[in-house]
Amino acid sequence: MIFNILTIFPELISTFSDVGFIKRAISKNVIDINIVNIREYSDNIHNRVDDKTYGGGPGMVLQYLPIKSAMDSLQKKGHVIYLSPQGKILTQEKMNTLSSIEEITFLCGRYEGVDQRVLDELIDEEISLGDYVISGGETACMAIIEGVTRLTPGAIDDIESVNQDSFQNGILDHPHYTRPDDIGGRKVPEVLSSGDHASIERWRKKQALGATWIKRPELLKNVKLSKEDDKLLKEYIAEFKDNEHK
Ligand SMILES: C[S@@+](CC[C@H](N)C(=O)[O-])C[C@H]1O[C@@H](n2cnc3c(N)ncnc32)[C@H](O)[C@@H]1O
Repeated sequence: MIFNILTIFPELISTFSDVGFIKRAISKNVIDINIVNIREYSDNIHNRVDDKTYGGGPGMVLQYLPIKSAMDSLQKKGHVIYLSPQGKILTQEKMNTLSSIEEITFLCGRYEGVDQRVLDELIDEEISLGDYVISGGETACMAIIEGVTRLTPGAIDDIESVNQDSFQNGILDHPHYTRPDDIGGRKVPEVLSSGDHASIERWRKKQALGATWIKRPELLKNVKLSKEDDKLLKEYIAEFKDNEHK
């Protein structure tokens, strides 16, 4: 997968590209990250790419021409995404859809955003991290690249762990434990050290369904539970209510 990123803060993305699993995915040629500094396409002597907003008011706006030239510098653009609080909110389903696209170009806004004509002419889609405003599109773009790269074959050694992650199957992940076995009397559930794989699977599924029921009950409306899963959830709820009354 190729990710082209148009930004006025290339150093944010180059640091991101040089750490941990993204760095490994690049070195294994699973993904490629191509950073385009919009300032290099400014025709201004001071490399300015923003100007005052027409109509007056506070804040600056990224200009159309440097963004257009930066886009034109790419051999291929693929699917063009503008990171924006006004876009469709990012979901795991969207991550899955994006992971099947070969080349994605991200445009990161700053200040008040970009000239409306950029959105009208150069963008395929606007994506938002959520209903709040941050200072730039770079963090949103990095979130998408991390989420999509995890789903790209070859990036993560144990793909099974990705399939068990929250949202991938419509519900949340089960709890995880690691050493030590006992923390001030709070012990790791016995079944996890039993070596009985079927019981461990059953426990994990029950806890995942239970965690979803407690933390994000609305998700359960959109998943079709098997008879076995339905039984596990009912068991979980009954035990939870029993414990509440103790
Ligand atoms: C301060 S924001 C501009 C907000 C814009 N004036 C508005 O209210 O719609 C600057 C840039 O941050 C990015 N940004 C801010 N919030 C975002 C969000 N929730 N999701 C994705 N990108 C966001 C966008 O690229 C945006 O152009």
